[in-house]
Amino acid sequence: MLIDPYSRVIDYLRISITDRCNLRCIYCMPPEGLEPKGREEMLRYEEIERVAREFIQLGVTRFRITGGEPLIRKGITELIRGLAGLDGVEDLSLTTNGLLLDRYALELKQAGLRRVNISLDSLDSERYHYITRGGDFHQVLRGIRSALEVGLNPVKLNVVVIRGVNDDEVLDFVELARTLPVWVRFIEFMPMGGESFWTPEKFIPSEEVKERVLERYSLEALPQWSSGGPSALEQGLSPAFHPETRSAMVGNGPAIYWRTPGAVGRVGFISSMTQHSCHRCNRLRLTAEGRLRSCLLADEEIDLRPSLREGGTKEALKRLIERAARSKPPGHQLSPAGRSHARGQMSAIGG
Ligand code: 5AD
Ligand code: SF4
Repeated sequence: MLIDPYSRVIDYLRISITDRCNLRCIYCMPPEGLEPKGREEMLRYEEIERVAREFIQLGVTRFRITGGEPLIRKGITELIRGLAGLDGVEDLSLTTNGLLLDRYALELKQAGLRRVNISLDSLDSERYHYITRGGDFHQVLRGIRSALEVGLNPVKLNVVVIRGVNDDEVLDFVELARTLPVWVRFIEFMPMGGESFWTPEKFIPSEEVKERVLERYSLEALPQWSSGGPSALEQGLSPAFHPETRSAMVGNGPAIYWRTPGAVGRVGFISSMTQHSCHRCNRLRLTAEGRLRSCLLADEEIDLRPSLREGGTKEALKRLIERAARSKPPGHQLSPAGRSHARGQMSAIGG
């Protein structure tokens, strides 16, 4: 098992397969986009698979493919098929902006993908076009519909809530989750993305978003665990100490889910800024160029590529992975009032 110095069990790896994207969201990229890394610098699928195998050996069972936009990388279905076929993979998911999902949903599902998270920050097509600098909202809707149709389940929608940009749409998103079986996740806006679009005024705490929801709807708490018995949370223990209860968790991450009465979908909150859930962080991140990152917000990276390309042994790879786990910081310092911007580019790290 992969356990860090703070007794957190690492059982989840996020794999970025490209730093490129077919959108340039205002909070993520500059208008002209970012200089993409050369193709030779990116791990090949076969190399990613070797890394995943080693993670499985260490007890990691859940994998998410991210970008940039992962669906723009050629042969994505083959990567999914390869990973889904590895013994020991219990969950395989993908984060996408949804533009190409219409085209890929069925083949991804058939290749063994379980579920998708789709970024969607507005339900108004002009505003969506503005936020993403050119994205076609209706194309994303087609993607969402395809994902639901082929049975990628659950379909989660990521909404970064930004004051003055899309915060007037909170109730529209809640309404969407009443009628469509999607899990809408309201995400606190984090100060990422270089000389960022982020300012303290644009930040809205989840609590405020939730209050707005509660003015119109009641929210039923949902068990955050999919099977019975007192959860580690109810026992007042860090879930990190309970691998057996962890496997019953509804997702891999920090979202807390609710339901409005009679709704077919769910509403969740990700409060990375106001409620740090670092104490139950279960993940490592692999960048497209093959560097392991122990935290979204820590700059230190451990480069796996030299070992992968220069005939390093499985044992050497394992030691590098263990080193990354050992270097996991206990937590991050970000706060809505803080001035410091996180370094690193979300599109390169994979969110
Ligand atoms: N704050 C919060 N979420 C962000 N994402 C990208 N940049 C930020 C930010 N600054 C989200 C995207 C996507 C996920 C991968 O990360 O909207 O849903
Ligand atoms: Fe692309 Fe996601 Fe960044 Fe938008 S937020 S530009 S979809 S990587």
